[in-house]
Amino acid sequence: MSAGTRPSGAVDPSFWRDRRVLVTGHTGFKGAWLSLWLASLGARVTGLSDGVPTEPSLFELARIGGEMDSLTGDVRDPGAVATALAGSQPELVIHMAAQSLVRRSHAEPRETYETNVMGTVNVLDAIRSTESVRAAIVVTSDKCYSNREWEWGYREHEPMGGHDPYSSSKGCAELVTAAYRSSFFSGRAGADPPRIASARAGNVIGGGDWAADRLIPDIMRAALAGEPVQIRNPSSIRPWQHVLCPLSGYLVLAQALFDSAEHAHGWNFGPSDEDARPVDWIVRHIADLWPEQLRIERDPGPHPHEAQYLKLDSSLARGRLGWRPVMGLEQGIDVTVEWYRRLRDGEDVREMTLAQIDSAGACHKSV
Ligand SMILES: NC(=O)c1ccc[n+]([C@@H]2O[C@H](COP(=O)([O-])OP(=O)(O)OC[C@H]3O[C@@H](n4cnc5c(N)ncnc54)[C@H](O)[C@@H]3O)[C@@H](O)[C@H]2O)c1
Repeated sequence: MSAGTRPSGAVDPSFWRDRRVLVTGHTGFKGAWLSLWLASLGARVTGLSDGVPTEPSLFELARIGGEMDSLTGDVRDPGAVATALAGSQPELVIHMAAQSLVRRSHAEPRETYETNVMGTVNVLDAIRSTESVRAAIVVTSDKCYSNREWEWGYREHEPMGGHDPYSSSKGCAELVTAAYRSSFFSGRAGADPPRIASARAGNVIGGGDWAADRLIPDIMRAALAGEPVQIRNPSSIRPWQHVLCPLSGYLVLAQALFDSAEHAHGWNFGPSDEDARPVDWIVRHIADLWPEQLRIERDPGPHPHEAQYLKLDSSLARGRLGWRPVMGLEQGIDVTVEWYRRLRDGEDVREMTLAQIDSAGACHKSV
């Protein structure tokens, strides 16, 4: 399907068939979902990560490494990144590898900056010397913005910032991406350099997340073990979305980047306003769905500072890309709890994850 006939906002399977894609961070939570989705669309996927970050992991349970070229390497090492690009000759790079945890960034600020900032420098530098690359998406976060703790949604041109090392490292990754784009990837007469975009999304939920210090993994780990759930900051409001929502945004953005260089800039992919909910609302909703009684306890802390509610304004992605979240928060929680319940019941993780991707893809076509 060509750009002219492609339905606005929809993932186009014909675009992805045989497309060579390099995904960094493919063994992590979002990377595993994305790699499985890409492979199911027929893309030729190479992954680069420094190992599998959790035990268990969606990456291993769904046997994702079997249908892609899974490389082990550190994005802090420029040579490892250059070798991965030179060997796979990707047409598209989706850079997601990161130290992704706010709390860990307080304990390991240097590692966080080295991974999230210099890792991004290394990926963009390797793209400069890999002729096959036509487009790249650098995945950052809603936390990249300077948080004024106001009510309005943040728009793409607003200043970068970040109170804690993780948020600030994502703001830095955005600044690095913008500087590389204007210095090395801007179109000069007759040239068609790689088109570099960045993508900012909020807190994601979904099956298969076992990262430390995240709400859904904390609840599900306790639920599966029959232990009490420890909740921090119950009144904190976060803009939650199911993992397939931003991932569908990345895929639609990649298609648009191939169509036109005018899409090479930053994009927000946030949830609808009504899906910004407090932690205790999420916990109660999950407790209603989980087949056994959940014991919920308050973890009194101390907890490091986390920025207050930060809302993304995703009007640009809606208007220019036709992107919409593939599901609302209630459905996102339903499918997440169902995923962990089916895991507990011994069902095949790969099949149930693919079924959730398929039904999100189907509802994507109809929005
Ligand atoms: N999960 C969320 O709620 C959320 C929200 C906003 C943005 N993000 C961003 O999305 C991306 C993916 O997040 P996630 O939740 O899948 O994270 P994750 O922690 O589950 O996975 C991180 C991935 O990066 C890899 N990685 C970490 N350090 C590396 C290094 N030095 N070299 C090579 N690989 C390395 C890990 O092996 C893993 O594959 C990250 O950039 C994250 O900052 C996540």
